[in-house]
Amino acid sequence: MAVTQTIKVEPTHPAVGARVTGVDLRRPIDSDVADELRAAFTRHAVICLPGQTIEAGHQVEFAAVFGPVDADDRQMDDPNQTQSRPGVMYVSNIREDGKLIGVLPDGEMHFHSDGMHRDNPYRATTLYAIKIPSHGGNTLFSSQAAAYEALPADMQQRLDGLKGKHVFNYNKTTRADMRTDPNETAFAIHPLVRTHPDSGRKSLYLSRLMTHSIVGLENAEGEELLLELIEHCEKPEFVYSHKWTPNDLVIWDNRCVNHARTDFSADEPRLLRRYTVSEPA
Ligand code: SIN
Repeated sequence: MAVTQTIKVEPTHPAVGARVTGVDLRRPIDSDVADELRAAFTRHAVICLPGQTIEAGHQVEFAAVFGPVDADDRQMDDPNQTQSRPGVMYVSNIREDGKLIGVLPDGEMHFHSDGMHRDNPYRATTLYAIKIPSHGGNTLFSSQAAAYEALPADMQQRLDGLKGKHVFNYNKTTRADMRTDPNETAFAIHPLVRTHPDSGRKSLYLSRLMTHSIVGLENAEGEELLLELIEHCEKPEFVYSHKWTPNDLVIWDNRCVNHARTDFSADEPRLLRRYTVSEPA
């Protein structure tokens, strides 16, 4: 007989994020549970399911609730030697024989949205905590929708029709490092304001790490506007700081949320497993 799962959704910050309990992801996700997970995701943009003792396959099944899971072959060494699957990426500072076992290894990362530098950015990212340092290494999530809605109407109008140029280079984690010529790295151009297809809310689509410039305003005025918007999005009223516990599974919506990482000690291992969800081409 099927056992009903009673799902509880509790917001973790007034602007963004919720904790979802009452789901065991080791069991198949039925259509009612999938609907509740999608509703919580649309409403809160970041959801954390704590205490999930899951394998990579369960994480893929969970990610698939939200759209097509990326299956690009990522050439990452698997730390357990047993769970290698297309699409997986490990975020880790662990080195074996002097070689990193994952990407984005060390320290602070500035705010960004995964895949901004691609023509088809990732819809969502799932991250599962395996090893977490005792202090720091929190992931910060900013609601780009709440940030947009808090802008004065004349600023909202000014942004109408403007586009940003976004760059990315793996293992560069701060804006200063990323300030390279966009033509020398992967870049894409997207509107600075986007409307979420499910919630209908407008969001600012720009970030400290990845937004190189505003198209047509590659001058002091454009840089000033960009920095003003970046500072605005990072105000505490729009940001939830997630302190990880091993077995947390988090999914965030890259269409309306930026994320960043606080610093942590290089002497403690940090290991998270990541799968992304794409927009259908
Ligand atoms: C990422 O930007 O995808 C990594 C976030 C983190 O390490 O907390």
